[in-house]
Amino acid sequence: MADYVLAIDQGTTSSRAIIFNHAGQIVESGQLEHEQIFPKAGWVEHDALEIWKNVREVVALALTRANLTHRDIVAVGITNQRETAVVWDKTTGEPVYNAIVWQDTRTQKIVEELGGTEGAEKYKAKVGLPLATYFSGPKVKWILDNVEGARAKAEAGDLLFGNTDTWVLWNMTGGKDGGVHVTDVTNASRTMLMDLSTLNWDEGIAADMGIPTSMLPEIRSSSEVYGKGREGGMVPGVPIAGILGDQQAATFGQACFEVGMAKNTYGTGNFMLINTGTEQIPSENGLLTTVCYKIGDQPAVYALEGSIAVTGSLVQWLRDNLGIISSAPEIEDLANTVDDNGGAYFVPAFSGLFAPYWRADARGALVGLTRYVNKGHIARAVLEATAFQTREVLDAMNADSGVDLTELKVDGGMIANETLMQFQADILGVPVVRPQVAETTALGAAYAAGIAVGFWNGEQDVIDNWAEDKRWEPSMDEGDRERLYRTWKKAVTKTFDWVD
Ligand code: G3P
Repeated sequence: MADYVLAIDQGTTSSRAIIFNHAGQIVESGQLEHEQIFPKAGWVEHDALEIWKNVREVVALALTRANLTHRDIVAVGITNQRETAVVWDKTTGEPVYNAIVWQDTRTQKIVEELGGTEGAEKYKAKVGLPLATYFSGPKVKWILDNVEGARAKAEAGDLLFGNTDTWVLWNMTGGKDGGVHVTDVTNASRTMLMDLSTLNWDEGIAADMGIPTSMLPEIRSSSEVYGKGREGGMVPGVPIAGILGDQQAATFGQACFEVGMAKNTYGTGNFMLINTGTEQIPSENGLLTTVCYKIGDQPAVYALEGSIAVTGSLVQWLRDNLGIISSAPEIEDLANTVDDNGGAYFVPAFSGLFAPYWRADARGALVGLTRYVNKGHIARAVLEATAFQTREVLDAMNADSGVDLTELKVDGGMIANETLMQFQADILGVPVVRPQVAETTALGAAYAAGIAVGFWNGEQDVIDNWAEDKRWEPSMDEGDRERLYRTWKKAVTKTFDWVD
């Protein structure tokens, strides 16, 4: 009897495999980082073959560490960095170009041209998204326009596109020897190519972008059997039965099943999602309308999302590009050498600014400097940037939904940072709540897969397994909170108009 579910979390900086038991607890895991490739300013790429190799290795690692085999695994769920575009040749299995990562801004011109006189809102009513460099469609267009021979091959039906969920699934189920070319509704909703109401590809938008629909994966629900692990692979014969984009997976793993429930994930970027039920709410405040999840034949559930491009990756930048810290967790000690930011504000507009601004012309700024400022203050400004950006997104959510959030469930790597979590509660003015299982992204994908094969009965099991670990209450004086936030807003305006 198989007693475990395996989740594969193909993230921006690493790939992980996590084995969960029926109580939703972590049994074992494996993790490998992959190279971040920066060929030019604003460009970010991954080697899709390296990612696939790492996925295989981490699955083997997790199974070995747990002393389990594929026979102990009842189902596999996949979750992934969204929007990152892979285009590959279906006859060779080779990508025609590196994966273009969601943070990459090279498509700025393409996006402006597509918008034409109608501008960034051109497709928003259909796809829920403003035209921006963030999404997959324009990245696929860039590959077809710029890689020699790619367009002809695409038109001949030889190329396939997918976000990394599709790339991993296709390879796991057989690759060039019959791999399944499928994505789920949540990933499809990040391409700019899916109609949010019909949950089908919009042929008009695909034609505008010059993308043959033969390249596009079939869109399926987030919880159903898509295929089985290939013979000779790491999980032969095991059903692959759940796919959710990582932020939607975290929302699922956090048991945000009721309208108005929200979570915020602190990863390389930050992503806050609020469940809006079966209703799609168009945003008037810079948020995205997106699919939250769809369980089998049940109707799709939608969400409003506030996406922030740079939060945890700013800490990595401090480590890798400036060398001020030698490991990411060190930032907390450094930040605690001072009492406040000393007047310094760091706006990390490295990929332009995402929600709620959507300014591709913005670039990062460190402002408010005097000779008083030391590296402790910079560390503090780096942490505070995450909290301030989150406040901007929360304000937008309150405005769009007309209801003020009363608490925020959090997850992701940075929630181990107590200094940040307290400051976050202070700047939001609402409690911040951490669950016992912080790996809610992988957990959400595991639940989607386990529900599809009857290992879990449905959402109620997820609710029953969720447990609170810690809660931070706001303790900052309201006047201080608003003064700091006002200064942050002023700092943000300094990043505009840097790129034509
Ligand atoms: O939209 C991008 C997001 O899915 C990436 O998440 O956790 O890999 O930074 P993460």
